[in-house]
Amino acid sequence: MDTTIQENNYMVNDLAAQSHQEHYPGEVIRADQLDDNRFLFNCQNGVRLLLHVLSDKILRFRYLTDGPLSPDFSYAVPAEAVSRLTPDQVEFREKPDHYRLTTARLICIIQKENLKARVLDRSGTILSDDEKGFHWEYDYDTGNDIVKMSKQVPAGVHYYGLGDKPDNMNLRGKRFTNWGSDTYGYVKGSDPLYKNIPFYHVLHQKIAHGIFFDNTFKASFDFAAERADVTSFWAQGGELNYYFIYGPTLMEVTQEYTLLTCPPELPPLWTLGYHQCKWSYFPESNVKEIAKGLRDRKIPCDALYLDIDYMEGYRCFTWSQERFPDPKRMVRELAEDGFKTIVIIDPGIKIDPEYPVYQEGIANNYFCRRADGPLMKGSVWPGLCNFPDFTAPRVREWWAGLFQELIQDIGVKGVWNDMNEPAVFEKGTFPPDVRFDYDGHSASHQKAHNIYGMQMARATNDGVKQFSYPNRPFTITRSTYSGGQRYSSGWTGDNIASWDHLWLANIQCQRLSISGFSFIGSDIGGFVDTPTGELYARWIALGAFHPFFRTHSSGDHGDQEPWSFGETVTDVARHFIELRYRLLPYMYTAFWQYATAGTPMLRPLTFLDQNDTETYLRMAEFGLGDNLLVCPITQPGAEGRWMYLPRGDWFYYWTDAPTSGGAEVWAAADLTRIPLFVRAGAVLPMQPVLQYVGERAIEELTLHVYYKNGTAESVHYDDGGEGYAYETGHKTLRRFTVTGSENNLVITQAIEGDFQPSYATYRVVLHGVAGPIEVTADGQAAEVTEATLETGLKLPSLVVGVAFGEVRVNVVP
Ligand code: GLC
Repeated sequence: MDTTIQENNYMVNDLAAQSHQEHYPGEVIRADQLDDNRFLFNCQNGVRLLLHVLSDKILRFRYLTDGPLSPDFSYAVPAEAVSRLTPDQVEFREKPDHYRLTTARLICIIQKENLKARVLDRSGTILSDDEKGFHWEYDYDTGNDIVKMSKQVPAGVHYYGLGDKPDNMNLRGKRFTNWGSDTYGYVKGSDPLYKNIPFYHVLHQKIAHGIFFDNTFKASFDFAAERADVTSFWAQGGELNYYFIYGPTLMEVTQEYTLLTCPPELPPLWTLGYHQCKWSYFPESNVKEIAKGLRDRKIPCDALYLDIDYMEGYRCFTWSQERFPDPKRMVRELAEDGFKTIVIIDPGIKIDPEYPVYQEGIANNYFCRRADGPLMKGSVWPGLCNFPDFTAPRVREWWAGLFQELIQDIGVKGVWNDMNEPAVFEKGTFPPDVRFDYDGHSASHQKAHNIYGMQMARATNDGVKQFSYPNRPFTITRSTYSGGQRYSSGWTGDNIASWDHLWLANIQCQRLSISGFSFIGSDIGGFVDTPTGELYARWIALGAFHPFFRTHSSGDHGDQEPWSFGETVTDVARHFIELRYRLLPYMYTAFWQYATAGTPMLRPLTFLDQNDTETYLRMAEFGLGDNLLVCPITQPGAEGRWMYLPRGDWFYYWTDAPTSGGAEVWAAADLTRIPLFVRAGAVLPMQPVLQYVGERAIEELTLHVYYKNGTAESVHYDDGGEGYAYETGHKTLRRFTVTGSENNLVITQAIEGDFQPSYATYRVVLHGVAGPIEVTADGQAAEVTEATLETGLKLPSLVVGVAFGEVRVNVVP
């Protein structure tokens, strides 16, 4: 390292140089090849880089500043990552000034000078190029060692991902920090927020890769904000430990990241239905009134929520005797009407010597302590509380056990975790000196803060899962970290009833989805303040296309049930909730793709076609699953909107108008519509409207087949949506191939698996086929009848058995 430059900088540079001093690794003096495709580079200044080639596409960089190799423990990557390659699939060479590693997809060059890395694809395109590379700074203000990486930014780079950041989809020119925070009423640009997902995508020259910085300390990301040609990320401690994930598509980057950090199991199907929530539905008569309000008005709904006021003085795992004298009976009665009851559980345990959960926590030393011994105390809803250390396995086990009564005895079906950033009223969060077990690795609050919410959700989900068996669990969380998708769904926190927030909800849900967290939604209508009827209507229209679909509000500003805004809005809300229930087979299939292949359920426009530069700066339009394209209306008084339709052929859902993509189109959408397009060649499985999942057996499913000149494939997954029989093979994947030409359309089905659904037939509805037609199903002439759809369209249809192999439609000349 050239110390003169360093000192000169110190003299001329202002604040940054006064509070930081930068250190560099120095020259690489030796490289050793270890087992499992790991390579250790040793530098002059004692720094080492452990480079682990995990697959053709994934390289893990671990920089170690001193001491022996620290234990390799991560909450995000559950099992220690093991290379998928054999030693002969990685070529390693030493050159005079660098080392070179080659896999089938990537080349990685480690320069001897300061350990700088460069990653290229096999055609020689530079994907990632260290600027200063790894360095660390001692921060005189905080006393922290900041580990840092900086990379060069060529012109025309775009950045996506990073969890719940409420900002433009493309992150270029912005700077963000991950430090879970209770951000009531946040606005565009607020940062940090609730969730901590240190993973982002880079798109350059139409080639994508991802960076996953697995470090739980307060971490920051600068996407060419401070210097237009440099992107950097750093953390206030811990290791500089990151994964380079090659695409080359953005979709593949998300998939690889999600598989690395593990996708969730399939949720019960009812959780994809509509949820109604407010702070707070009490007493029992009020809950019953809401339930009746939904059923009387025929507004489908699967879940009702109890916010903190169901408890006795906000003590978790208690019930207010006065408000809910017999919760078991109430929950049962609601269940008889198809409602699943979900209750909130916060981390703060009230300091009250008479309260059994507190007593157990004290007796067994389950609560977090300060560095010098006393229990961590902080105020939340119940007043002064202690807080379980969810990073200790024995505490998680205890916590999980606490759900027995709620789930098994009372019959609650899901648990909602909140305030787990962790939030306290005094100073926002815990003081820095609080200690955590960190699964036996002992950590400060700085290190454990960003995973606290995730570990709470994990413990909660363990309990809900254990006591729900043989049914599947359901958990919701506000805070999380990478990998938290394994344990819980989520929502975007305390938003505001404004048009800006509807816009933000759309971006945030897409962003979380591409960050491995697809089971996400926003508080429909806004948590803070009162929405107008129009805003609520437009918001529920968008929410119907978000994986987690819930109306929630703070309750201190009037009603926010679907019928609270007059008859027109009630009809609109019902209409979109019904559409959601019709689409459940499609939604569930998209979830299955997420759960098995890590495929994001919501897909920003660029993810649909990264070769089309027109998509790069657009953010309103998004794909849901393989075949739908949605674009919310986010302005009052609109009668439709201009939007960009990706290349290819599409049908406007409401009119069946064939529309060519690769262009801006006007989508007419009064309050009863949302701009919604179906991809040509799609087979869209839909079911009848139910008031709740399981209301009655479904006798027939509808397959909406959209004509395409050419061939397209669609899938439909089904396993009944509950229980674990699917794990032992009782599931069915149907692959539909649609092939169209001028005079005919052929639909074939290939079936894998043996799940027996309740429906024995499909009604096949033909879109984009002008009659007269003749149809055969598996060689036999089939009767064509006219189907009238809820959109008012009248289309040719036929009924076939679910096991059909081929439907052939010929246009009669
Ligand atoms: C927090 C949550 C909100 C909840 C409230 C009361 O503000 O984000 O959803 O209703 O606490 O529990």
